Amino acid sequence: MTSAMKNFLQSLLRKLLGGNRDGVANSMPASGREVGSIKNEPGSPGATDMSLSKPVEPAPPVEPARSVESIPGHLSQHPQSNGRSGRIQLIIGLDFGTSFTKVVIAEQRRAYAVPFDGIPGVGGNPYLLPGFLAIPADGRMQLGTVAGAHHHSGMKMRILGGDRGRDIRKLATAFVALVFQHARAWFFQAHGRTYVNHTFDWCVNVGLPTEHYHDDALMAFYRDIVDAAWAASIRPTALDLEAVDACLDGRQPSLGREAIGLFPEFVAQVSGYVRTPLRRSDLHLLMDVGAGTVDVAAFNVHKEDGEDVFPILGKSVENHGVHFLHQHRLTSAGIAPGDPRAPFKGGITDAEVARTLGLKLETLKHNDIAFGEHVRDQVSRVVRQARGNYPLSRRWDEGVPFFLCGGGSRAAFYSALAEQMIALRNPCRLVQARLPRPDRLQADRMTEESYDRISVAYGLSFDPLDIGRIIRTDELPRIDPVVPERGQCPRCNGTGGLHRPCDRCGGTGLLG
Ligand SMILES: Nc1ncnc2c1ncn2[C@@H]1O[C@H](COP(=O)(O)OP(=O)(O)OP(=O)(O)O)[C@@H](O)[C@H]1O
Ligand SMILES: [Mg+2]
Repeated sequence: MTSAMKNFLQSLLRKLLGGNRDGVANSMPASGREVGSIKNEPGSPGATDMSLSKPVEPAPPVEPARSVESIPGHLSQHPQSNGRSGRIQLIIGLDFGTSFTKVVIAEQRRAYAVPFDGIPGVGGNPYLLPGFLAIPADGRMQLGTVAGAHHHSGMKMRILGGDRGRDIRKLATAFVALVFQHARAWFFQAHGRTYVNHTFDWCVNVGLPTEHYHDDALMAFYRDIVDAAWAASIRPTALDLEAVDACLDGRQPSLGREAIGLFPEFVAQVSGYVRTPLRRSDLHLLMDVGAGTVDVAAFNVHKEDGEDVFPILGKSVENHGVHFLHQHRLTSAGIAPGDPRAPFKGGITDAEVARTLGLKLETLKHNDIAFGEHVRDQVSRVVRQARGNYPLSRRWDEGVPFFLCGGGSRAAFYSALAEQMIALRNPCRLVQARLPRPDRLQADRMTEESYDRISVAYGLSFDPLDIGRIIRTDELPRIDPVVPERGQCPRCNGTGGLHRPCDRCGGTGLLG
């Protein structure tokens, strides 16, 4: 997209939004967080518990994070701003994960990973928010785990599983609203001085598994939730289910659906990569191993008139994430899923897992074979689909750049599977690629190795007009198989190259 076009679209977007309609209210929402500490990285309740409405044993209280508590969460403008420095667009990249939610707030030049210090349940990596919504007896909802409260988790799995009922709508809206409150208050507290006297125009970009990006009803559901969540987040009073209800009915001012972008998570994952010299054009394969799902996407990377274009050539999301691997390990060992004697623990070796389950390591590995086949089949299906949609890519011969990412990719099972696929060139020739940590991202307490935990949220923190154009699989041009004739290019079979000029025939389809 040309910069003139982009400016025009940006100003149009701003006009459509009419700035923020939420204004600046002045009373403080109930903070009253009971703060505790349970580890959020492997083995924590946030990581293990995908059941719904399950009370959680709280951890001992610690001091709340004053940095966020000092600024009311419902404000969408800095309390001391006089607005004289003009408007600036701020984008919230929201990676709503099964186990962990990650958030990045960005303006054009800088992006800030939001830490969740002070929320009970946040552990070693402060940028990972465990997916718990606490509803204490007084009804004032909070993030994390709270003594005596009722807790809800596994919201994303419920939604992706097809639950679109009022109950899940309310819970997800409340959770996202509290995330917005925390993120804005943290931003004002930590970076308010940098942007003093600006007026913020907020946008929110949310990620979806690639498969679900093709589901219009689900996209509309996500948009409704985010819009209602914003409305709920700017109410100056404590958040209870009644308030959330009113916001879901559209009875409260909000951001407006035009300010909410939905993108496939793979595009967000690679948005850092496509802006570096490491970028390669043509076909790529990405496998994101999460707590619940394995999301596999085959896509093309190319530019048209200066705009990134991502045709999705193959896709699949399946419940093959680390929690389902654990369930498989339990059932193959004759242990009931959820047996408290064998809880899920991330970050432990397979030998330790085998010991916990009372198995020999060889037996565990033998049992894993069947699950590995399912994951391999999933990748093979995506590769087959991509071959059908883009048979002429030279990457089929040269090797398809392959990203393995997501928290679960650290588990030995998945990395071994990926290594095997690369070594055996099955289901196709793959070349391991990596997601570089971008300089634009500020996250003091994040190591280079843990960047992929936040990469989706980071990629979502770009201006929606800059993220690129996504071509869904159902929007791809149909390819009819062509039998080459004498004198025709055997690579493009006479089509002249479909997604790029053929490098044998230069795009004519004829060998000179
Ligand atoms: N070193 C590790 N070994 C094994 N598992 C790990 C490790 N580190 C993190 N995990 C697991 O990765 C999962 C979280 O990964 P991630 O944050 O990518 O998932 P998510 O985005 O919440 O899930 P989804 O993408 O399915 O919605 C958790 O289940 C966690 O236990
Ligand atoms: Mg994820």
